[in-house]
Amino acid sequence: MTKIKILCAVSCVALLAAASAPAAGPSADSVVAARKAGFKKIGGAMKAIRDQLASGGTNKPVMVSAAQTMAATAREQAKLFPAGTGPGAGVKTDALPAIWSDRATFDAAMNRLIAESTKLATVAGSGDSAAITAQLKATGATCAACHKQFRADN
Ligand code: HEC
Repeated sequence: MTKIKILCAVSCVALLAAASAPAAGPSADSVVAARKAGFKKIGGAMKAIRDQLASGGTNKPVMVSAAQTMAATAREQAKLFPAGTGPGAGVKTDALPAIWSDRATFDAAMNRLIAESTKLATVAGSGDSAAITAQLKATGATCAACHKQFRADN
């Protein structure tokens, strides 16, 4: 008897929780906020590298770690576009519906950012300003390409 009561207590709580939050998991708003913050972090890290280059590009560890932050954050960003977080969800987002209708292309665009920023981390360690500048440009091109196709506010 006691066992049944305990079971009921547990499942009733689960049922109530499910009823109050039908879309289990984080809300669309919090997911959108997290990915916007992630992109800001990526942008900030990119700026740190640009600033280094502008001032002579002497601080290799700063540039390497900023590029690593870009790659690691991009890996997390890939997970922050679940179904239901597009413009149709009533949330404020610049993400275009094409992300969900052409997911393979979007994922490939994110993978290009991950690949180019990973390469940027390696090149940044060389201390060769011209090579770093070229690789930063290649990385920046992956941002622009994805924004053009998948972001409303260009
Ligand atoms: C695979 C696609 C993709 C790539 C690659 C990408 N972005 Fe974005 N970015 C987006 C999308 C989609 C949004 C809109 C997010 C939203 O509003 O929900 C966005 C938004 C942003 C924002 C605005 C965040 C805000 O506060 O609203 C910034 C800044 C940004 N990206 C910077 C970058 C930089 C810098 C890079 C490259 C280093 C980059 N992004 C690469 C897709 C991408």
